[in-house]
Amino acid sequence: MRIGIIGAGNIGGNLTQRFAALGHEVSVANSRGPETLAELAQETGASAVPATEAAKGADVVVVTIPEKNVPKLPAGILDGLALGAVVIDTGNYYPQQRDGRIEDLENGTPESLWVAGQLGHAVVKAFNGIYASHLLTEGKPAGSPGRIALPVAGDDASAKAVVIDLLDQLGFDGVDAGGLEDSWRQQPGTPVYGADLDADGVKRALAEANPERPAEFRAEQQ
Ligand SMILES: NC(=O)c1ccc[n+]([C@@H]2O[C@H](COP(=O)([O-])OP(=O)(O)OC[C@H]3O[C@@H](n4cnc5c(N)ncnc54)[C@H](OP(=O)(O)O)[C@@H]3O)[C@@H](O)[C@H]2O)c1
Repeated sequence: MRIGIIGAGNIGGNLTQRFAALGHEVSVANSRGPETLAELAQETGASAVPATEAAKGADVVVVTIPEKNVPKLPAGILDGLALGAVVIDTGNYYPQQRDGRIEDLENGTPESLWVAGQLGHAVVKAFNGIYASHLLTEGKPAGSPGRIALPVAGDDASAKAVVIDLLDQLGFDGVDAGGLEDSWRQQPGTPVYGADLDADGVKRALAEANPERPAEFRAEQQ
């Protein structure tokens, strides 16, 4: 598959490494330009490209940047996607530590629904609740006891199937977590977030989630 990765930090860098090792054709971009990604490209065999090139011809694009930077992505960042391409959003809203106040999110819009609106393209929410390092260390063959499962939310069943297949290749189970309207169930502060649960545990945790955003994941009162 041709996979474009926008954001080359903890998650983007590790996904670049894993997807390239699995034989996918990976293009990776950050905000500063491909020359700053020469080492990652050399180590993984991925192509370092300008952010505006990462989605060109891609079957899958992973957007993995701080939430506050999503509106700053260049217009047309997803132009040139392959037909039926899947866009994955790994993002989380951390108003107090990183992102500042984003009014729509404070008002209850699920994070990935907001991201989809900013990008002007449907997204699948995945990878947002696993520690980046666990992408390198915790993958296990299908059927292994305790294999970590990750929730996958989105409105297009075939797009979710593509993501669940990629998760399986990486050594994780995917659990269909419903549509983007329901994707608050896997946001920061929910029972599934960062918990490294197996598939049954993920299903239970999603069902137990509370729609109210915990205080530590809201902007401080002004
Ligand atoms: N860290 C984790 O364990 C973890 C786990 C799950 C989900 N997440 C979420 O996934 C997202 C990424 O997290 P991270 O920890 O990987 O972030 P990070 O280490 O801070 O890396 C962010 C990356 O995004 C790039 N970037 C920022 N603005 C950009 C823009 N306008 N255009 C292109 N690239 C841009 C940065 O490039 P430059 O360095 O060139 O600016 C950097 O490569 C966040 O929303 C985070 O909450 C993180």
